[in-house]
Amino acid sequence: NICKKEGKERMEQEKRGQFGTNFGFLMAAIGSAIGLGNIWGFPYKMGANGGFIFLIIYLALVSFVGFSVMLGELALGRKYGMGVVGTYRKISEKYTWIGWLGWLSGFLILAFYSVLGGFTIRYCFGFLMEIFSAGAGFGGMDSGAFFGSFTTNAPMSILFHAIFMGATIIIVMGGISGGIEKFTTVAMPALFIMMLIVVIRSVTLEGAFVGLEFMFKPDLEALKEIGLMRVLKTAAGQMFFSLSLGMGCMITYGSYLSKNENLEKNAMIIPIADTCFATLSALAVLPAVGAFMYQGVEGVSFGAGPGLLFVTLHRVFSVGMGGFMGNFFGALFYFLVFIAAVTSSISLLEVCTAYFIDKRVGKGLEPDRKKITLIVGLTIFFLGFPVAMDGLGAGVAGGAMIDIPATLFGMKEVRVAFDCWLDFYDMISEGVFMPLGAMLMSLLIGWKLKTTLIKEEVEATPGYQMRAYNFWDICFKFVVPAVMLLVLLGQLDDFFGLGIF
Ligand code: TRP
Repeated sequence: NICKKEGKERMEQEKRGQFGTNFGFLMAAIGSAIGLGNIWGFPYKMGANGGFIFLIIYLALVSFVGFSVMLGELALGRKYGMGVVGTYRKISEKYTWIGWLGWLSGFLILAFYSVLGGFTIRYCFGFLMEIFSAGAGFGGMDSGAFFGSFTTNAPMSILFHAIFMGATIIIVMGGISGGIEKFTTVAMPALFIMMLIVVIRSVTLEGAFVGLEFMFKPDLEALKEIGLMRVLKTAAGQMFFSLSLGMGCMITYGSYLSKNENLEKNAMIIPIADTCFATLSALAVLPAVGAFMYQGVEGVSFGAGPGLLFVTLHRVFSVGMGGFMGNFFGALFYFLVFIAAVTSSISLLEVCTAYFIDKRVGKGLEPDRKKITLIVGLTIFFLGFPVAMDGLGAGVAGGAMIDIPATLFGMKEVRVAFDCWLDFYDMISEGVFMPLGAMLMSLLIGWKLKTTLIKEEVEATPGYQMRAYNFWDICFKFVVPAVMLLVLLGQLDDFFGLGIF
């Protein structure tokens, strides 16, 4: 009977697919982690939250929370060999809903992530066109004006959202080793090289030191003004999003990992690579911005917040650098951001599709990956429509654009509280479902299933002994739940203006 059971499991595993090599797995997992969160979120949040002090807090959080949640997710995924819903169901029927939280988050995050991914394609394309004929790429518009006109042009946003989603669907259709692994094994090293080129250009610009100072100078004043708790909360939220944690991405990728691979080591490598890349991104973005502030280019400043990636950097390339070089580096930079975003979006789509594949494989059917991926991908594409159509809230002021979908779904009240649909999707997923999911996971591991379960799974690798059991034990039991609670309260506070922090 045991033989029969093992045989069945092996067959199911074969149908689901697996990573071919540990390097391939690492590229896929690091690819999932590195994305818009690193290149967009990290530099401006670091700049606005005390610079160097933010970095130190971030590093501490990665060490005490990031590593352990990463290990927990990978271990659960590999142990149960299922996507996020199946994994929690196998732990116990009564925890299945925790899996659903993650699964739904995948839909919501990818819906807005893909719209933003579409923006990166538009910008890359724009700079390429400018190389051939001035004004062809951005219509001779100023960066702020272009951003406004592009984001409020609903058909255009939807078109580029479609291209981005199409690319994501095609890769995921190829399966684990034939699609995701194949793509990321080439894309990630290329991404790293492109990033190095951009960093070198950025830090050698005249006046780059202004940006470096802004980045690395410990800004105690800013810290006092913002408050330590707020900075901590911002850093923790950023870390979770950046490491793709809290919604079962790493559970899903872990389920495609062979027992021969070292979980403890992988759980450290992924966060370290992601954090290095976030720092590199900041080194690419902030010195360039600082240099042109120094050179007196108008309309360039650190304080742009979320506008930094599109409005400020567009200006840095088109006005600051200008000419062929500006267009060349602009195209290269936005291509790089696009690649980073795709290697993340495929992991989100995989979480959503894995559920249906698991279900079919469990019934002994062929997985039918291509069809499932297409249907799930199209669903997410449509879910992204309101995000692509409301001009990131620009439509709210004018009223016309968001009114239609908002009244359609009877969300008049909600609309008052959120600037735009992106914020709304983000609030539900990143704001509530994910911190809740991560908190419950660590409580489950720490207190209910016991950390010995993680130890057993790590030691399922032949001949491997877990190194830091006591460390993980304390993290799962106390540190992670406490930090997650802080994030949860902080996010709710942010979105509803409760005034806790
Ligand atoms: N980590 C990616 C980024 O930094 C985004 C991402 C991919 C993600 N998969 C995720 C975020 C799962 C949260 C959960 O851009």
